Amino acid sequence: MKKTVQTIRNSKGERRLAAITAYDALMGALASRAGMDIILVGDSVGNTVLGHPTTVQVTMDVMVHHTAAVRRAEPESLLVADLPFAQAHREREAVLEQCARLVQEGGAEAVKIEGDANLEPVLSHIINAGIPVLGHIGLLPQRVNALGGYRKFGKTPEEHQALLEDAAAMERAGCFAVIGEMIEPAVAAEITQSIGIPHIGIGCGPGCDGQILVCTDMLGFQSKFHPSFVKTYANLEETILEAFRSYGQEVQDGAFPK
Ligand code: KIV
Repeated sequence: MKKTVQTIRNSKGERRLAAITAYDALMGALASRAGMDIILVGDSVGNTVLGHPTTVQVTMDVMVHHTAAVRRAEPESLLVADLPFAQAHREREAVLEQCARLVQEGGAEAVKIEGDANLEPVLSHIINAGIPVLGHIGLLPQRVNALGGYRKFGKTPEEHQALLEDAAAMERAGCFAVIGEMIEPAVAAEITQSIGIPHIGIGCGPGCDGQILVCTDMLGFQSKFHPSFVKTYANLEETILEAFRSYGQEVQDGAFPK
């Protein structure tokens, strides 16, 4: 059955949500067939499959291109697209225009926006225009250059308080759910209790209403890159290497084609 923002919102307190990233029609179709609640076309496309060092290099055109590819898989999962670097900090009409591109040209059913409580007015503006928004708090990878790296959030009382306020502001703005990234597990669990919309965690421990993982991480595409919180459910790096090597060898040996 097709998952909508209402499906996601109504899951709070009823069942845990499972979400995954996908960047093309192939992965989108598999994620949908596996019953994922949400497929996120994350700007992690930049550092997972496009060879960029971070998500900062990802542009609107790249996001539209990859979102449209996943859309062509016609997923039953809710299709959410990331608003890329710096776009949320433009004038609110410009932000709305970019979100509308993800919906109209990319085929997204909702957009994800990284930010904090300061974004409340702009989020309300987008949501009032009919574009559902998935908030994203905690570690905001688009700020990697300002942060000087990736780290856990919520360790100090100030950050703890600010995170609770960020989540509350996203709910007040009308977000249908919020992603928390790399938040201290006890703080993440408190956020989950404090809001009436689903809190979907990544690197936040078990006290969330659901989990999201980056598909290439959990599929074991890169053994050299393995965030501590990721569970790998497959080892595709090894499987693919083995297949490519066998093919190369069989061509050399004349065993393929027959
Ligand atoms: O871009 C992305 O993949 C994300 C997830 C880590 C939540 O933002």
